[in-house]
Amino acid sequence: MKAVTSCQLPVASKVKKISILGATGTIGQNTLKIIAQHPGRFAVTALTAGDNVELLIEQARFFKPERAVIANEMHYAVLKKELSGTGIEVAAGETAIAEAASMPADMAMSAMVGAAGLIPTLSAIRSGKAVALANKESLVCAGGLVMQEAEKHGATLLPVDSEHNAVFQLTQDFTFVEHITLTASGGPFRAWTTEQMTKATPEQAIKHPNWNMGAKISVDSATLMNKGLEMIEAHHLFALKPDQIRVLIHPESIVHCLVQMVDGSMLAQLSAPDMCTPIACALAWPDRVETTVKKLNLAEIGRLHFEAPDESRFPALRLARAALSEGGNAACTLNAANEVAVQRFLKGEITFPDIVKTVEKTLEKVENAKLTGIEDVLACDRQARDIAKEL
Ligand SMILES: NC(=O)c1ccc[n+]([C@@H]2O[C@H](COP(=O)([O-])OP(=O)(O)OC[C@H]3O[C@@H](n4cnc5c(N)ncnc54)[C@H](OP(=O)(O)O)[C@@H]3O)[C@@H](O)[C@H]2O)c1
Repeated sequence: MKAVTSCQLPVASKVKKISILGATGTIGQNTLKIIAQHPGRFAVTALTAGDNVELLIEQARFFKPERAVIANEMHYAVLKKELSGTGIEVAAGETAIAEAASMPADMAMSAMVGAAGLIPTLSAIRSGKAVALANKESLVCAGGLVMQEAEKHGATLLPVDSEHNAVFQLTQDFTFVEHITLTASGGPFRAWTTEQMTKATPEQAIKHPNWNMGAKISVDSATLMNKGLEMIEAHHLFALKPDQIRVLIHPESIVHCLVQMVDGSMLAQLSAPDMCTPIACALAWPDRVETTVKKLNLAEIGRLHFEAPDESRFPALRLARAALSEGGNAACTLNAANEVAVQRFLKGEITFPDIVKTVEKTLEKVENAKLTGIEDVLACDRQARDIAKEL
């Protein structure tokens, strides 16, 4: 087989049209960075944002999508005025975001944060296009439904979360997989005592040692709830049983996932902790595109470290595992309560340990029930949020 070197990379025969849901966020901006580095290979169909209308306008002027959509309707007038004469359609509101997700394109990058990404992700899936999935919360709160709809509409799901993207790169056939291990950096409080964590500030919590991420996922990484959400995400994406999904602390964030095969082989995917690698992998799949991500020099790195997670200091993992095993609406409740509690912590209303306590108490108060459709998911999400806000 002839090796492909960087100067011989095949030129894609067709331009891939991509819509980006959550274009103004960390994942959205990195996606656009990769698109900009490969002119002629990708084109932007739709860009959506929540509140950051200035950045959306700037992105739309540069990437010239067919449509630019802002969720906050208060920004519609300014978006319309600033993009007038460009030929770019503009729209505002939740429904407009879901409509943008269903526009004809080859792929949607689902990069909104939180359960707010569920309906637009489903809309992209139902239009049959490939979906690069960063928005893990949509799988956590409605994984069964999302996977069913993807199957029904022939939509390929390409994991963007670095650990899940790593699994996807290592294997897509789980027949001989005994278990997978998701690695976690341990976050900024990996070596802190419980006592120290009671005094943790939002600034400390969002200062992740290895990754540059949005505020919500940074706090989730600090509580290790992010790894809990990822266990639930992996269960749905790869149809693995809860006991086939393990977690290992790996402070360097170089090994993103380990896949243990039944014959004793363990496969690993390694790359620098930079989301541009999994994003590029998903965007170009089944091809590969070059990125500016620093290539690893293992001799320079020298050592990699691994340790078991300490669930007494980081109880979020235990809660997420229990929610996964319980099934029904437990993961949806866990996710909604966590979103509320993280926002309250970021506003300085509750302490860092209160985040997970809020989730635990909400889980105790919401009765477990089967989720039979999207209405059930939305109702459970609302109920859990109301309870978590009152606690
Ligand atoms: N960042 C990472 O390294 C990383 C890694 C793995 C997985 N992920 C996952 O990727 C997703 C995005 O993470 P992120 O770090 O990129 O988050 P982020 O930086 O906070 O960006 C979130 C994006 O969603 C938009 N948004 C928020 N609420 C919205 C709403 N109600 N309606 C419409 N748009 C809304 C934001 O718009 P405005 O900014 O305009 O308000 C922004 O574009 C999350 O699910 C996260 O768990 C992220």
